[in-house]
Amino acid sequence: MGVAIRGTGGALPEKILTNFDLEKMVDTTDEWIRQRTGMKERHIGEKETVPYLAANACRRALENAGKTAEEVELIIVATCTTEMLLPCAACRVQNMLGAKDAIAFDINAACGGFLFALNTAHHYIASGACKNALIVGAEVLSEIIDWTDRGTCVLFGDGAGAVFVEETEDGDPSGIIGMSQGSSGMMGKILYCRGRVVKGETEPEINSENLLVHMQGSEVYKFAVRQVPVCINKALDMAKLEANDIDIYVLHQANKRIIESIAKTLKVDIEKFPMNIEKVGNTSSASIPLLLDELNRSGQIVKGQKVMLSGFGAGMTFGACAMVW
Ligand code: ACO
Repeated sequence: MGVAIRGTGGALPEKILTNFDLEKMVDTTDEWIRQRTGMKERHIGEKETVPYLAANACRRALENAGKTAEEVELIIVATCTTEMLLPCAACRVQNMLGAKDAIAFDINAACGGFLFALNTAHHYIASGACKNALIVGAEVLSEIIDWTDRGTCVLFGDGAGAVFVEETEDGDPSGIIGMSQGSSGMMGKILYCRGRVVKGETEPEINSENLLVHMQGSEVYKFAVRQVPVCINKALDMAKLEANDIDIYVLHQANKRIIESIAKTLKVDIEKFPMNIEKVGNTSSASIPLLLDELNRSGQIVKGQKVMLSGFGAGMTFGACAMVW
């Protein structure tokens, strides 16, 4: 039984923070950020929460797929920044959508989360446990960023991206044809956050640096450029494809230079690697579905094309998914 993406949706907070705004906050420059990362601006959630953004992205994905919330059987939200421990973000999204018949739960694999959620949904559907799912990557990373640390605060943005997936009918060539995922817990210390402050409910003094993101940027960079191509090659093997058979690579938008390096390692033209990093920064688990939604709505991905999704994140986690659109 095949599993294919039938609809996409995205949601971004209203507030935009530019590199020039960041120049006023930390010792950095627009030029440094653009050259080292490819980013110019990002959206920052002020009142928008993870479930709010996730629910909006889901509504758009459902509309795009021509489905209603009542038809949804599974909701998985990939997030590491939802503001309530309980209930999980997916149950809150279920409530906001009125998707009363869905199973709902969260996955935390940081920026790799969307691919982990997609893989999980794939197995649920392939096993016959359900027929469809809403998969969401949603983050308000600005809540756990140290806004005095120029090494991290310039990188991240907030947002949500969602896809509606369902089982395909016999003879339909669209769907997932290769998946690979993995974790390197031994490298967990290069990117971590011990906890988080719940806005408005925690004393300010508890908001110590322990509750913010710590990152060894160059180690994360080295991990990504080494591990992502390996992971993509595994998904290609499973799909019995060569790297150049893929029409579009939708990669986690962490850093333009990381994406360029991966394209070079795979010996694939960089033109096949669309990016939206300039406008949204690194939106963690939302980055792949947000870009996918842009490409889908603008007609840059069309039926029958071969698409590769791949990303990595804190943990460290990594994944890749090859599909026929
Ligand atoms: N503005 C100006 N200078 C800066 C800034 C800044 N915003 N940030 C760091 N620098 C300085 C450093 O202090 C350092 O100065 P020094 O040479 O005087 O010590 C210099 O720039 C070089 O620093 P590096 O860290 O070596 O710079 P690098 O070229 O590696 O770029 C970056 C840093 C952009 C963070 C890069 O390493 C990177 O993108 N890493 C991957 C990060 C990533 O993808 N994280 C997300 C993972 S996904 C998830 O799960 C959240």
